[in-house]
Amino acid sequence: MKAYVLKKVGGPDVLKISSVASSSPGTNEVQVQIETIGLNYAEIQSRKGLYGWAPKRPYIPGMEAYGKIRAIGDGVTDLQVGTQVIVVGQFGCYTEEIVVPVNQILPAFKNFTPAENAAFAVQFMTAWVALFEICRIRATDRVLIQAAAGGVGTAAVQLAKALGCEVFGTASKDSKLDLISRLGVDHSINYHTDDFVAVIREKTGGEGVDVILEVVGGEVFRKSMEVLNPFGRLVVIGFASLNLNKLNPLSWWETWKDIPRVKIDAMATASQVVGASHLGYLLKDTKRMMRIWTDLSLFTLEHGLKPVVGHEFKFEEMAEAHKLMESRNSHGKIVVHI
Ligand SMILES: NC(=O)c1ccc[n+]([C@@H]2O[C@H](COP(=O)([O-])OP(=O)(O)OC[C@H]3O[C@@H](n4cnc5c(N)ncnc54)[C@H](OP(=O)(O)O)[C@@H]3O)[C@@H](O)[C@H]2O)c1
Repeated sequence: MKAYVLKKVGGPDVLKISSVASSSPGTNEVQVQIETIGLNYAEIQSRKGLYGWAPKRPYIPGMEAYGKIRAIGDGVTDLQVGTQVIVVGQFGCYTEEIVVPVNQILPAFKNFTPAENAAFAVQFMTAWVALFEICRIRATDRVLIQAAAGGVGTAAVQLAKALGCEVFGTASKDSKLDLISRLGVDHSINYHTDDFVAVIREKTGGEGVDVILEVVGGEVFRKSMEVLNPFGRLVVIGFASLNLNKLNPLSWWETWKDIPRVKIDAMATASQVVGASHLGYLLKDTKRMMRIWTDLSLFTLEHGLKPVVGHEFKFEEMAEAHKLMESRNSHGKIVVHI
């Protein structure tokens, strides 16, 4: 079968198709024929050698996909061959076929297209965990979503708006602001051309926001802390702006400086909470993951939410898909069809 095997780190051109042997499912495993792959920013960072949770090379990247169960192993009682499913994991999805333990299989949404099914799990679960589990978001909260036009961003915007929150969203291009405004963002801010702190102060009559989803790091994180209200909650789920060049000591210093840090004494006087989250831990805690998945799925169906699929590529175009995500010109989710 065809697969992208990451043998060395580097630019998008290191992504080359190889032929690899397929394997049969063992006890409590299933084999899924992949139809559509969902891309995640962590795969860009893994390809560059900057993702701490990546497995040892060589390995097949890819954290999520949609496809059909082709075979089931011993002990699998509640899944059938032929069922359409979503696969989640830390790696392994840039391929035609994958064998995974049953806890990495989630039910597909019948009202979603294949692209939407491949686009949902990682980004909506990440946004849900950050906003609902960690920040305990309420309808009365003012919410700031950084990089709101991206995959996680468009998921977070939809979730917060469906709950009834007033939402501020940032992005680096005006075309992305149009998208997030259409998704319901009340105050769209171009954080490259405008000072988002000043805009938020102006729109809130000198106040700030109660909940912040932060994915960029560096100056964006530092300025986010300036607009966090007393009793506010900020959760860091990524550092998209960090770009460590291991051969350049100046870049070590810049990376160290831009990793989000907090001053507990300053937070204490305002009774603020700053947290962080990583979806990887959920794979080790099936009970918690399924509880979260159930809550998220019910909310999604109740409010008629769907992931924003911004770009679709063919399997042979994986390098192009990576280039687009890295360029900051993508919006919503990028998917790749087999
Ligand atoms: N903790 C978790 O479990 C988890 C899970 C999924 C994703 N994440 C994180 O969430 C963030 C979004 O992930 P995603 O997959 O949905 O990607 P994405 O948002 O579709 O793409 C990344 C976005 O980051 C913004 N960005 C800001 N500074 C950047 C820079 N210097 N270079 C490139 N992009 C920059 C860009 O938006 P603008 O151009 O509008 O600024 C870009 O569109 C990432 O930080 C990712 O690592 C975390």
